Amino acid sequence: MKSTIYDYVVIGSGIAGLSAALRLSKFGKTVMISKNSLKSGSTHYAQGGIAVALDKTDAPGIHYQDTLEAGAGLCDSDVVKVLVEEGLERVKELIDIGAEFDKKGSEFDLGQEGAHHRRRILHAKDETGKEIERALGTRLLKEPNITFLQNTMVVKLCIKNKKAVGCIVLRENEYERLSAKAIIIATGGCGQVFSHSTNPSGTTGDGIALAYEAECLIQDMEFIQFHPTTLYTGDKKPISIFLISEAVRGEGAVLRNIEGTRFMKKYHELGELAPRDIVSRAIVKECIKSGSNHVYLDLTQITGDLSVKFPNIYRRCLIAKIDLAKDFVPVSPAAHFLMGGIKVSEWGKSSVEGLYSTGESACLGIHGANRLASNSLLDGLVFGYRCADYVGKHENELDRHWDESLDFNPVNSDKLAEFQVLKYQIKEMMWKCGGIVRNKSLMTEGLAFLKSKAAILETEYSHVIYFELKHIYCVSKLILEFGINRTESRGGHFREDFPDIDNLNWKVHQTRGKMTKILLNE
Ligand code: FAD
Ligand code: SIN
Repeated sequence: MKSTIYDYVVIGSGIAGLSAALRLSKFGKTVMISKNSLKSGSTHYAQGGIAVALDKTDAPGIHYQDTLEAGAGLCDSDVVKVLVEEGLERVKELIDIGAEFDKKGSEFDLGQEGAHHRRRILHAKDETGKEIERALGTRLLKEPNITFLQNTMVVKLCIKNKKAVGCIVLRENEYERLSAKAIIIATGGCGQVFSHSTNPSGTTGDGIALAYEAECLIQDMEFIQFHPTTLYTGDKKPISIFLISEAVRGEGAVLRNIEGTRFMKKYHELGELAPRDIVSRAIVKECIKSGSNHVYLDLTQITGDLSVKFPNIYRRCLIAKIDLAKDFVPVSPAAHFLMGGIKVSEWGKSSVEGLYSTGESACLGIHGANRLASNSLLDGLVFGYRCADYVGKHENELDRHWDESLDFNPVNSDKLAEFQVLKYQIKEMMWKCGGIVRNKSLMTEGLAFLKSKAAILETEYSHVIYFELKHIYCVSKLILEFGINRTESRGGHFREDFPDIDNLNWKVHQTRGKMTKILLNE
């Protein structure tokens, strides 16, 4: 098996991976790896924008307060402080390297999103992620210290004497060893565990599953954010469902039930701009009441040319024969963001030496039980940089003397078909058993289903589809186990068997759950 030595390995090329790799290149030879291309992560699809307290009427302290409120009592206030304060500096650097955000005259045109008490969303039309990725990616390609490996999947983390020493990748139909002083996991979330998701197809929780396999502490996996408004396409189920950004509700779009009646004020005083978990559950209730699979989003009252304000959404809706200026858009919720992940410190340090994580794969407690809109691009930017800065200054020991390997085991078409069927079944099961409204009996049913299918994954095959399925399986199990353990409703975890949400007493309820592989297998 071929072996290559770097100083640092960054797994993932979204905003967190880019931010980390750029900083690490100041310290040594860095490899940034993507399962597909630069554009394959959620970052590429981010619409609404990046939250930052730039307005004269705003301050990091107000952004901090909004983040804590959305987080439903589970945010770590110290890291939130870092996010909102260092966020200002990092965003200014992003603008300095060429990211272009929309302006009104000489001032930034700041958008509004749910649960923000100020207009603070910096955006590039409705394709903010692409613009940030373009700016960071262009810079990264100029760094001689960075190697970018595309179409390369990390399939194993290698641990020796309790320290991460490298990883094994599947690349051009071969395995290869990469050794490094430290490994940063920036593999994004796990939306593809669900049959309805906004996330791109490769968002299969790989980093979390790999870290769990390496006996790393995992945290808060029950907290999934379901975005309320994704384009409903009837019986057609795209792998990744098109998002209709919350920014359109920030500009005045309203939700209507199947009869055309507005309903959000019945559920929350902030109406359409209530926290996402509340809007998603309200939509589910309205759908159950009317026997429908969707509600409507009405943008007709927004002033100005919608094709200029939201060109991407406008284009996509036209393809579905919906004219935003005249027609209501059928929408329904879908899995969008993972608040939990690999438990890390404010420097991205996991419970395994030499192993770090940042971005959506990491859980620092920034987002608590429910993330404030547009805080995750900021999270990746700020903590990607911080994690890399810490790694560059503290990780100096390289162990190249390890020989872990995997046997190359090709897969035949029958096996691949069997894997595709199981993937489909797990995703449907997770939507039913671990979706927006949960209860113990459903989650237990989900776990029993997974157990009944375990044998299919026992033999390891050298194929991306096998490994993604294995990771989906592992992460689904974690979500359901964590979900059963949390006997309350909070943020993105709603249990109809424990439905009371007592906002005032959140702090005296349960604290966060942590699990390692050993604990779960007991
Ligand atoms: P990602 O951008 O998802 O990147 C993950 C990377 O890891 C990819 O390069 C992938 O190829 C790589 N990878 C994964 N597994 C492996 C493996 N095994 N081996 C090698 N490489 C691997 N947030 C906001 O703040 N504002 C928004 O407006 C916003 N809009 C959104 C809209 C959509 C449609 C979606 C899906 C999300 C949105 N979010 C938004 C959330 C935000 O985009 C993500 O949380 C964030 O981009 C995650 O960044 P990341 O760097 O952690 O991961
Ligand atoms: C959106 O544009 O609605 C998504 C924003 C986010 O996920 O933060």
